[in-house]
Amino acid sequence: MSEPKSQNIQWHGANLTHEAREEAVGQCGCVLWFTGFSGSGKSTVARRVEELLLLGGVFAYVLDGDNLRMGLNKDLGFSPADRTENIRRVGCVAQLFADAGAVCLTAFISPYRADRDQARAMLPEGRFLEVFVATSLEACEGRDPKGLYKKARDGKIPEFTGISAPYEEPEAAEIVLQTEGRSVDECAHEVIAHLRTRGLIK
Ligand code: ADX
Repeated sequence: MSEPKSQNIQWHGANLTHEAREEAVGQCGCVLWFTGFSGSGKSTVARRVEELLLLGGVFAYVLDGDNLRMGLNKDLGFSPADRTENIRRVGCVAQLFADAGAVCLTAFISPYRADRDQARAMLPEGRFLEVFVATSLEACEGRDPKGLYKKARDGKIPEFTGISAPYEEPEAAEIVLQTEGRSVDECAHEVIAHLRTRGLIK
């Protein structure tokens, strides 16, 4: 990652070690990085996982693409450079949530493998799980929940992922989620089972 523009800055660490913080908070901070086409179900499944975790007493929080583009990332569009910057910022925010002890779920198309790998590199080993929401482009376009594929096909949205912009599939995602023909709850429980198996939640 590039050097900060600022000079004369120093990292100011916490008084507690990371382990002592997690002990105090009573949970393991981690990132569940959902990636896939628009309309694949990333946000829907992430929101259900968040809800189930919160109801079970685990602090969890979803960072969602559309939502962050209304605030933190409102200066970014969908060019390759802007998408890379979008994911860089989200990776930084996710790292902070995980450092604070939260289960942070991110729901961004994040179409570039290198960008996702950079986000992964910010977390300790085992604390970043890539969740490939493997819904086919055909199924996403069939669902078209926001009517965006139709607009993209009509040439009204340039650089639309899957239509006129690339999506690089993960090669080694920790979780590959099939959503077609399955309920949101089934998918959410599959993700939660992974967290449990890996000892990230009790
Ligand atoms: S990313 O590529 O930079 O990761 P992000 O997840 O933040 O994208 O935003 C994707 C969402 O923005 C889509 O779900 C869709 O609602 C909307 N969107 C608007 N224009 C585009 C576009 N050209 N390509 C993809 N998604 C778009």
